[in-house]
Amino acid sequence: MARRLWHIIERGFYPDRQLHHETIFTIGNGYLGTRGSFEEGYEGDTPSTLVHGIFDHAPNMLVPELVNVPNWLPIHITIDGTPFRLVTQASDYMRPQDGLVLGFERILELDRGILSREVLFRAASGNIVRLIFERFASLDNEHILAQRVRVIAVDGSPQIEVEAALDGDVTNAGAQHWLPDMTVLAENEVIGLEAKTQQSSYVVGIASKLITKSAVQHTGSGLQPGLRTSLQLAQEDEAVFDKISVIYSSRDVTAPLTSAVAEVQKAAKTGYDQLLAQHTREWSKYWETADILIEGDDECQLALRFTTYHILITAPRHDENASIGAKTLSGLGYKGHVFWDTELFALPPLTLTQPQLARNLLMYRYHRLPGARHKAQANGFEGAMFPWESTDTGEETTPQWSDPQPDGTRIRIWTGDTEQHISTDIAYGVWQYWHWTGDDDFLKRYGAEIILDTAVFWGSRVEEKNGRYEISQQIGPDEYHENVDNSVFTNRMVVWHLETALSLLDWLKNHAASDHDRLAATLKLTPDRLAKWRDIIARMVIPFDAEKQIHIQFPGFFDMEYIPVPNYTPRTSSVQAIVGHSRSIQSQVIKQADVVMMMALLGDQVANREVMLNNWNTYYPRTDHGSSLSPAMHAWVAGRLGLMETAYDMFHHAVHIDLHDNKGNVRDGIHAAACGGVFQAVLFGFCGLELTPEGPKLVEPRLPEHWRRVQFNVYYRGAKHTFEVGGPA
Ligand code: BGC
Repeated sequence: MARRLWHIIERGFYPDRQLHHETIFTIGNGYLGTRGSFEEGYEGDTPSTLVHGIFDHAPNMLVPELVNVPNWLPIHITIDGTPFRLVTQASDYMRPQDGLVLGFERILELDRGILSREVLFRAASGNIVRLIFERFASLDNEHILAQRVRVIAVDGSPQIEVEAALDGDVTNAGAQHWLPDMTVLAENEVIGLEAKTQQSSYVVGIASKLITKSAVQHTGSGLQPGLRTSLQLAQEDEAVFDKISVIYSSRDVTAPLTSAVAEVQKAAKTGYDQLLAQHTREWSKYWETADILIEGDDECQLALRFTTYHILITAPRHDENASIGAKTLSGLGYKGHVFWDTELFALPPLTLTQPQLARNLLMYRYHRLPGARHKAQANGFEGAMFPWESTDTGEETTPQWSDPQPDGTRIRIWTGDTEQHISTDIAYGVWQYWHWTGDDDFLKRYGAEIILDTAVFWGSRVEEKNGRYEISQQIGPDEYHENVDNSVFTNRMVVWHLETALSLLDWLKNHAASDHDRLAATLKLTPDRLAKWRDIIARMVIPFDAEKQIHIQFPGFFDMEYIPVPNYTPRTSSVQAIVGHSRSIQSQVIKQADVVMMMALLGDQVANREVMLNNWNTYYPRTDHGSSLSPAMHAWVAGRLGLMETAYDMFHHAVHIDLHDNKGNVRDGIHAAACGGVFQAVLFGFCGLELTPEGPKLVEPRLPEHWRRVQFNVYYRGAKHTFEVGGPA
């Protein structure tokens, strides 16, 4: 397989793209993520390492956020006294007195989870070296981080000095989460830091060691302990410097720094090469099932591997108490909070290809049922109502107000109050996981409780009015229209939810009677309650125009101003930004897939082909794609409808959201939902993958015209199935 179809390559250093590239070159291992900032550090860079579960609520902030831990990357190199730098400021790029960069290439190897960089550098002395940097976050031992720098004397015999350091002087874009009295350690050629968060009292310990042939001395000061070595290189000789770091937190062990020091000594003995071999072996296991092969479209092939890579590096590997944030562990966007993006977008690729990781994500929700029950109760409802934004505690953590707008005002954010469909989205994720994996043990012990107690919530949430059931004051997926009554997405998904809860109870009765009785007793699933669920299913309002044969996003939607979104092309900002917030929210402009999302999730349960097409023709021209969640869902549904040109356009857009930075916000982190969405667009949308009573099948697969072949694997009930569309006739 061509290596180039696994490599994201950057040629040349462009300071104005630095933050975007830091995000896309993130490495990680399901425990932490580290942005692709450079070892030597630059003006305006944002080196960040985010560790799953380490949240803190700083006193001056509205909500808790994932905390940027001490930086393990710094390595400073001088050649004959010239500091190695790509650039000091944009204006003095390549000033001879700073040394001269003769060539630069950076590669993210998606197949092996390695970030490397090669630079040809001429020092002010005239000597030329080739520097080869490599780093990885071990997938074999999630606490280990490894860096290697090779310096090769290309011309002359330069004097090389290398300083490897840790940096505890870190914040979250200025917000201070660490107590000031960090422990700094510098002994026996090991440096370390131990720090405690201000409010949540998580402790993080990190230790590093520099391994090389020349003598190593302690250096550095304050919160930047360092290790230094120097040597003279003969022409064409090579020196190798390995820096091994280890991170532990109080979520893992009682004394994080002590554990980190012990582990770093052990890892140093194992050695970089062996650590790398163990790491890449684990990566090949991931790809054995996760890879989707596309023949006929190298550009999308590489981009799809990139999106899958980002799901894999962020999915908690050994942790049932962490989940995937909307921006993964690659940036501070959305503060590391967990949304519906996880269960409906990022989870399915894992359910199908790495079921153990999917289970971890669902266990995260199970362990947070107390928070969901608390939210329901605080709002006057029964059962479990999951928060729209979730962190470590499971309490609602959506900010009620936005950051200040340019005019200094703040906008009220309603999603934490009324975007309630998340409880059903989580139930959907559980049900899908169980169907694909057949993990009855999970369902009986944990999953059933999630589905049933969220159903209890809906039973208490619906309003019986005018002889039918309604749900008022909701935000559906289209967040441009807030607090509407009878969002068709929400109401229809609730019907699905209650139907599912009833079938689940039947299944439990027949297959796990004691679990059935336990849950019926603890969740008070009385005959009256179940009768009410049946009644809701029968009499829930599902807004539908019988004459036009279309679903109505919510009653009153079509009374608003029609703004033809396709006329606003080409554009680089949203239609909402162009026409203004107040006009757009009183118009038919939709932020993202809403009715279309319902069709993706429920397919022919909700609409026949004619209605699907009518819905598509109605809502597609009204959709702004103001959220990165939107294009992949459109690709999926267009694929099912056989609208392959549009399906491909939407897919191409979605799969490049991060690589091309279409929305200009990738500096804040990878869009996890888009990454999971494109996987589903290919499998469910193009290839027609369905779970039938006889197992997984491809139903009417249709590929974009120039795709010759698609091949992928999925696990169904523990067995791997390989599917192929196209290929030799
Ligand atoms: C989208 C939501 C999404 C959130 C986090 C918002 O812009 O409208 O659907 O959950 O971003 O990605």
